[in-house]
Amino acid sequence: MSNFPESHPQLPIVTTLRAAGCVFAEDEARLLVADATNPEELAAMVARRAAGEPLEHVLGWAEFLGIRMTVDAGVFVPRRRTEFLVREAAALARPRAVVVDLCCGSGAVGAAIASVLDRPRVHAVDIDPAAVRCARRNLAGADGRVYSGDLYQPLPEALRGRVDVVVAIAPYVPTGAISMMPPEAREHEPRTALDGGADGLDVVRRVVAEAPDWLGPHGHLLLETSRRQVPGTLDAFARHGLVPRVVDLDGLHSSVVIGTGPG
Ligand SMILES: C[S@@+](CC[C@H](N)C(=O)[O-])C[C@H]1O[C@@H](n2cnc3c(N)ncnc32)[C@H](O)[C@@H]1O
Repeated sequence: MSNFPESHPQLPIVTTLRAAGCVFAEDEARLLVADATNPEELAAMVARRAAGEPLEHVLGWAEFLGIRMTVDAGVFVPRRRTEFLVREAAALARPRAVVVDLCCGSGAVGAAIASVLDRPRVHAVDIDPAAVRCARRNLAGADGRVYSGDLYQPLPEALRGRVDVVVAIAPYVPTGAISMMPPEAREHEPRTALDGGADGLDVVRRVVAEAPDWLGPHGHLLLETSRRQVPGTLDAFARHGLVPRVVDLDGLHSSVVIGTGPG
C-alpha cells in the first residue's frame, strides 16, 4: 500500500529512473513509493537507485520464493534463478532434515528451504559479518542457527556425518570476468561474494572436498554454478566420491549440480 495519496505524482520518479537506465522504471517507482514513509525518504531512495544501487539494497529487502528477505546494503542480493535450487533441495529432503546453507549471504536460501520443508533444522554459514547479521534476521522464525566463519569450520562437530542436505551458492565468477559484470553487482556486492578465483571454482572445490565428511549416508550436496563451469564441478564431485547429476532450467545460464554420497 502506498503511503501517498492516489494523486501523488509518480511520473517524475519514473522519468528519473528511466533516465538512469532502469528498465522496469514503473514497477520500481511503485515499490519505492510504497516503501517510503515520507517524501524526503522517497527522494533519497530515488536518488540512491538512480545512482546505480541495486533496488533491493535501496528497499532493504528482496522477494525470494514469495518471501520478503531482508537484504542490507553490501550483502549479495539473492537471485530469482536460485529458487530452482531451493525446489531441488526441498524435493530431496525428508521431514526434520538437517540442512546446511554454506555461503548463505542473506540466508534467503536456508530461510526459503525452511519455509517449504517439514520442520527442518537449518545451519547457515557465511564469512562476511554483514551477511551473517542479515541471515540471522531472515532465519529468526525458523529452527535455524547462523555461524560466522569459513565454510564448514564453524559448524558444530556433532553435525559431522549427519547432514541430509548441503546447499551452497559459493562465489563462482572467474576473477577476470568480474569487470564484465553489471555495475550493480561489481560495485555494490562484496568481492567475496563474487570472486571464485582464476577459473571461478576455488571455493566450489573446497565445498565439495569437505562435503563427504559432513553428509550422512545418502546425503546430498547441491551447488549452483554457471553452465560453463559444470565440467570442472563434475570433476570435483567425482574426485571426492560424490555421484553427480546436473539439472538445468531452460532459459537460465546457471545449473544445479547435485551430488549424492555413497550409502
Ligand atoms: C554468491 S553469494 C551467495 C549468497 C546466498 N547463498 C544467496 O544465494 O543469496 C556467496 C556468499 O559466499 C560468502 N563466502 C565467500 N567465501 C566464503 C567462505 N570461505 N566461507 C563462507 N562464506 C563465504 C560470501 O560472503 C557471500 O555471502
